Amino acid sequence: MNGQRTVAPLVNQAAAALRSGRLVAFPTETVYGLGADARNLDAVAQIFAVKGRPADHPLIVHLADAAQLTDWAQEVPEAAWQLAKAFWPGPLTLILPRRSGVPDAVTGGLDTVALRVPNHPVALALLTAFGGGIAAPSANRYGRVSPTTAEHVREELGTQVEMVLDGGPCFVGIESTIVDATKASSLCILRPGAITTEALRRVLGTALRPAGQDALRSPGRKLSHYAPCARVVLVSQDDAAHEAARWLDQGLRVGLLSARRPAGLPESVMCLHLPESLMQQARALYQGLRQADHLNVQVLLAVLPADTGIGHAIRDRLLRAAGLGDDGSSHFQVIGSAR
Ligand code: TXA
Ligand code: MG
Repeated sequence: MNGQRTVAPLVNQAAAALRSGRLVAFPTETVYGLGADARNLDAVAQIFAVKGRPADHPLIVHLADAAQLTDWAQEVPEAAWQLAKAFWPGPLTLILPRRSGVPDAVTGGLDTVALRVPNHPVALALLTAFGGGIAAPSANRYGRVSPTTAEHVREELGTQVEMVLDGGPCFVGIESTIVDATKASSLCILRPGAITTEALRRVLGTALRPAGQDALRSPGRKLSHYAPCARVVLVSQDDAAHEAARWLDQGLRVGLLSARRPAGLPESVMCLHLPESLMQQARALYQGLRQADHLNVQVLLAVLPADTGIGHAIRDRLLRAAGLGDDGSSHFQVIGSAR
C-alpha cells in the first residue's frame, strides 16, 4: 500500500469529489467499492448507471464508526450494538430499520438500510475526511466478479470512474457477511462472509439462522452472481481429471480452480491454483476467476472447499458463479459427489 503521506492528499481529493456528487472507487478489506455520497440522489443514480444494476437492488452505506449508526437506523436492537462492537471496523453488514430521510434509491425502496464500517485504512480515512455515509456496492459490473485490486476496477469500469484509490489487494477478498438485525428475535444471515456463523454465535450466545429462504429478501442474492465469462462447473477433487478430459474432448479450453492438482489431470488443462488455507483461498478466489477469463478458459472446473468457517462463504460464491445459488441446503449437484 502507498504510505499515508502519499495517500492523504488523494483521500482529500476523493472526499471533495464525493462532496461534488462524483463517484470514487475505494479499497475495503473485503472488495473494492464504487462510492457515492449516500445522501446525493444524482450521485447514487450514477452508481446504478455505471454498474448496470437494477434500481431495486439496495446499496450498503459505509460509515466511519458505529456512533453514526443512529444517523441512518431508526432503531438499533441491543444485539446489533453487540455485533457492531465486536466486529466493526470489519467485514460485517447490518440490516436495520431505516430512518426517514434515507433515500429510497439507496434502500431500493425497502424500509431497512444496510450499514457497515469497513476495516481498511484508506476506506476509513476517506470516510473520516468525507464525514458522511458513502453508498458503495462492489465496483464491478452487475452480476460479475467483485474487484479485489485497483487494477481490476480500472479493467472493468475504465474511464467511467474518475478516481480509483489504490489500497493494494483486499485482505479478505470476498464480500462482507450480511446479518438481518432488524428484529432481535429473528436475526439471520443473509450473505455468508468472513465473519462466520460460529463467530456470530460466540458474540450473541445463540445460533443465528443460516442464509436460507430469507436470503431472497436480500435482492442482490441472485442464483447467478459473481460470474466470470467462463462456464463454471463444480466437481469433486476425485472426478476433476475425468471431467476435464470430457470437456477437452468437446474441443473446449478447460481450466481447473483447486487447491490441489488431481492425479491424471490432462496437461492442456489450465490449473489455477488456490492456496490450502481457507482464509487465503477467499483472498485468491476472485483473482482466480478473473485469471480464467484472461486465459480465455471456456469451462472452469471448480472444487468446493470444506463447508467450515469461511469455507461456507467460498462455497456460496462458487455456487453462484456456477449459476446454482444456494438455498442453505444441498439442492445442487457437484459432479462426482453423488456417486
Ligand atoms: O463487502 C461488501 O459488502 C462490499 C464492500 C464494498 O463493502 N459491498 C458489497 O455491496 O458487496 P454489493 O452492493 O455488491 O452487495 C450488497 C448486498 C446486496 O446483495 C444487496 O441486495 C444487499 O447487500 N442489501 C443491501 N441493502 C439491503 C437491505 N436493506 N436489505 C437486504 N439486503 C440488502
Ligand atoms: Mg456486488
